[in-house]
Amino acid sequence: MRIDRSRLERSIQDLGRIGETPNGGLTRLALSDDDRRARDQMVQWMREAGLAVRVDRMGNIFGERSGTAALPPVMMGSHVDSVPTGGKYDGQLGVLCGLEAIRRLNDGRVRTRHPVTLAIFTNEEGARFQPAMIASGVMAGKIALEDAYNARDKDGIRLVDELERIGYLGPEPCVPRPMRAYLELHIEQGPFLEEEGLHVGVVEGIVAISWSRVTIRGVQDHAGPTPMRTRHDALVAAAEIVTGVRRMAAEIGGDVVATVGNLTVSPNITNAIPGKVTLSIDVRDPADATIDRARALVERVVADACRREGATYELDHYWRVPHTPFDRDVVDTVERAAKAAGARYRRILSGAGHDAQYMAMLGPTGMIFVPSRAGRSHCEEEFTGMDDIEYGANALLLTALDLAVVN
Ligand code: GLV
Ligand code: MN
Ligand code: MN
Repeated sequence: MRIDRSRLERSIQDLGRIGETPNGGLTRLALSDDDRRARDQMVQWMREAGLAVRVDRMGNIFGERSGTAALPPVMMGSHVDSVPTGGKYDGQLGVLCGLEAIRRLNDGRVRTRHPVTLAIFTNEEGARFQPAMIASGVMAGKIALEDAYNARDKDGIRLVDELERIGYLGPEPCVPRPMRAYLELHIEQGPFLEEEGLHVGVVEGIVAISWSRVTIRGVQDHAGPTPMRTRHDALVAAAEIVTGVRRMAAEIGGDVVATVGNLTVSPNITNAIPGKVTLSIDVRDPADATIDRARALVERVVADACRREGATYELDHYWRVPHTPFDRDVVDTVERAAKAAGARYRRILSGAGHDAQYMAMLGPTGMIFVPSRAGRSHCEEEFTGMDDIEYGANALLLTALDLAVVN
């Protein structure tokens, strides 16, 4: 059984127009009007495919194709929110390949014993509301619903108010759902599959992730009359933290990666010494112990930088997800499916976070990667060719069929 490549390609193009940027990328921030339009489009397609659609209190959308037995579903899913000036593949490709797999089951009038469900998770990116994967995190019981509701974007708008505004504050409790398995197809977002001429990555697990926030308080003052010797410049301390975090990663070595990606400078004008800066620190490594070590080193970097500048600070390690190995049987099933789909494949570890990381705490979980051109993602250049997408989507379809058991 094979997916319908041209139907899938059309859906990718159609959904990709919602929030499209002039350069052909995507800005579709979580719970924005474009997110609502993309959700509405997905719900329409899900209903047209005969799925029973439900929305939970975190705005997660589930569309179920019933099975022939009262059994937990095989779930396929991902997200439709994007980062600012991101690409058209991160997230929505997984959702659309899941939809195509279901459409294909419908075409062939295939009956499965387990239901097959398509899932769309809210605010996976963590670009607008922190942390990332917030809604699967609530579902897994790792993030309190109240905390998620009270997450605020940079303008102080609460997540729950935006959920309500766009009409996706659903009635269903956001709690663990029984499932036979959770499957997520996603772009690799790294260079390896393309470099090695492969079509598919059989994902074995996801690295550990740590997010921290530093608030630095110096003294806001005039840029002209204030002599250099009396200054307490929050941005100078921040700059030392940025380079210190880079040095910390070099010192640990191995696979660790560390990024300062967000800086908010106050008052952020030309002629005032910055009085306050907040900055983000993202650290990832396959080993949880390395994250512990990195956090300790970050604490020293921050303390030293602020002491030198006579600034005060708060450091909050507010989010952490452990290294997550996927279910052995599901990984083996994905590998068999990749082979049956005729793909060249290998096993791979994910350096990006995915809702699959929290879903793996709830039931057997696996992922399928397709290559990213030049390894690029979270940018407008993000691209995956249709040949690779077809191999990945077929592997997803065959994995779902295997797990859902054809009657
Ligand atoms: C999500 O995209 C993450 O890996 O931060
Ligand atoms: Mn993603
Ligand atoms: Mn992403």
